[in-house]
Amino acid sequence: ISQADRDLLLSHVRDIPDWPQPGVTFKDITPLLRDPAGFATTVRLLSEAAVGHDVTSVVGIEARGFILGAPVAYHLDAGFVPVRKEGKLPAETSSASYALEYGQATIEVHRDAFMPGERVLIIDDVLATGGTVRATVDLVRAAGAEVVAVSVLMELGFLRGREKLADVPVSALLSL
Ligand code: PRP
Repeated sequence: ISQADRDLLLSHVRDIPDWPQPGVTFKDITPLLRDPAGFATTVRLLSEAAVGHDVTSVVGIEARGFILGAPVAYHLDAGFVPVRKEGKLPAETSSASYALEYGQATIEVHRDAFMPGERVLIIDDVLATGGTVRATVDLVRAAGAEVVAVSVLMELGFLRGREKLADVPVSALLSL
């Protein structure tokens, strides 16, 4: 990523203190999404990170992974598969649970979401503690597909999410 692209992206991500709970600073990407150059650059760079991986399917993680993953799938001539929070997908699902700071969360994917031999790119906006992406990798593998790469817009390095993902290539456009 060039310095100019990095500056463009960074200038459109804002910090929201104490959201969604006290002590947490939320990275809000809505200013980036609404900026035509910012959105186009984000999608282009996330797509470029997947070049050479022969991606056939892009998995977007609810909710902001849908917004970024769908145009990346279109760009790569791949299909799009949503990984959703528990209880949202209508057909038969597989699920994976993971620990949050307090309590736990469950995500799901349709059991028939992948064809044999599918090569999957996982997309999300933020890699924080890594629990969400870890669970997504496990879900995709359990469904019989290969995870060829994970690409995120932003990695919060101090939360060490990457340590949970040693078995898969992870790239982040911004490391904060
Ligand atoms: C955020 C973010 C990632 C996840 C990262 O989603 O969009 O999906 O948290 O956190 P982790 O690396 O610590 O697991 P959020 O839980 O806010 O859900 P939402 O996109 O539906 O608002």
